[in-house]
Amino acid sequence: MAVDEKKLGEFMGRFVGDLGAVLHAPLIVLGDRLGLYRQLAKGPATPAELARETGTSERYVAEWLAANAASGYVEYDAAAKTYRMTDEQAFTLADPESPAYIPGAFLIAMSMFKDEHKVTEIFRTGQGLGWHEHDKCLFEGTEKFFRPSYAGNLVGSWIPALGGVKEKLEAGGRVADVGCGHGASTILMAKAFPRSTFHAYDYHPQSIEVAKRAAAAAGVGDRVTFEVATAKTFPGKGYDLVACFDCLHDMGDPEGAARHVLSTLSPEGSWMIVEPFAHDELEKNLNPIGRIYYSASTMICTPASKSQEVGLALGAQAGEGRLRTVVQAAGFKRFRRATETPFNLVLEAKP
Ligand SMILES: C[S@@+](CC[C@H](N)C(=O)[O-])C[C@H]1O[C@@H](n2cnc3c(N)ncnc32)[C@H](O)[C@@H]1O
Repeated sequence: MAVDEKKLGEFMGRFVGDLGAVLHAPLIVLGDRLGLYRQLAKGPATPAELARETGTSERYVAEWLAANAASGYVEYDAAAKTYRMTDEQAFTLADPESPAYIPGAFLIAMSMFKDEHKVTEIFRTGQGLGWHEHDKCLFEGTEKFFRPSYAGNLVGSWIPALGGVKEKLEAGGRVADVGCGHGASTILMAKAFPRSTFHAYDYHPQSIEVAKRAAAAAGVGDRVTFEVATAKTFPGKGYDLVACFDCLHDMGDPEGAARHVLSTLSPEGSWMIVEPFAHDELEKNLNPIGRIYYSASTMICTPASKSQEVGLALGAQAGEGRLRTVVQAAGFKRFRRATETPFNLVLEAKP
């Protein structure tokens, strides 16, 4: 072995940063749960003040603040011995309505740690691990992480990027949201298009229960139904829009799902497929975003697909080309990239 000291030093430097980020992840989750970020965003505070305002223990809060300051997540004023958050820190950590609100991502990371023993085992057996078999942090984290991006993009840019769909929904259309999880996307659409009706489906009964409560709380319960159903069996016909948000690649038989979607669409209906952003070539995905998706895909998406019939296991970095093959094999005639963000591909398929 001829270890180059300079290269080793660089690699170890990266590792120190990575390890710090991993160890800090649960501090973000608990800071979010306890309202520490939200309170600190209101103005500078000492550990004692922040603990008093949030009903928490001062000694723990002091240690948490120091860890956050070392992470660059809060600022420390050594002269005043106070901590504060910049607008950018508050925007990402303290404001659940911000499109950049990030704590949900760390709940997903927590679920990956909690389920590591299950994934280790399926590496040996080759079996799948269903979405429903994960720790509940995954379901909560997925909604919390994805909703801000849907709030920032779905109504304002993704739906307008589809052919004629915005106009149909404004006039009063029929929409199916398939693989809806906790229903964040359904509720946002229902609020934006009060003349349309929304039918949302997911195979995971607990998620459907959470979604029903969320829709009632959001005041759209009259125009939205949530039902337990798979993507290959959900009921209804003549939909103007069928949407699949970040779930097609989680399915065992995405081609079977696509065939069923086609049979439920109106002749000029659209299928909106929102998938993780990816290039078609693996080597082009070897970057920070690909790193996030390949890691989550190893622990969550690929096992989820393998737990279902067919078990195609597209993975979270399938890319447009692979998705096009699946959609066209199911009989869709038209397929195009409608728009994209750094994290999402938004694809439209039509009969
Ligand atoms: C990553 S989550 C996305 C949830 C939601 N669409 C969102 O964006 O927040 C994937 C969802 O797909 C659902 N799912 C997986 N396979 C399914 C299938 N075959 N039929 C219906 N839903 C499925 C899971 O239960 C889970 O809620």
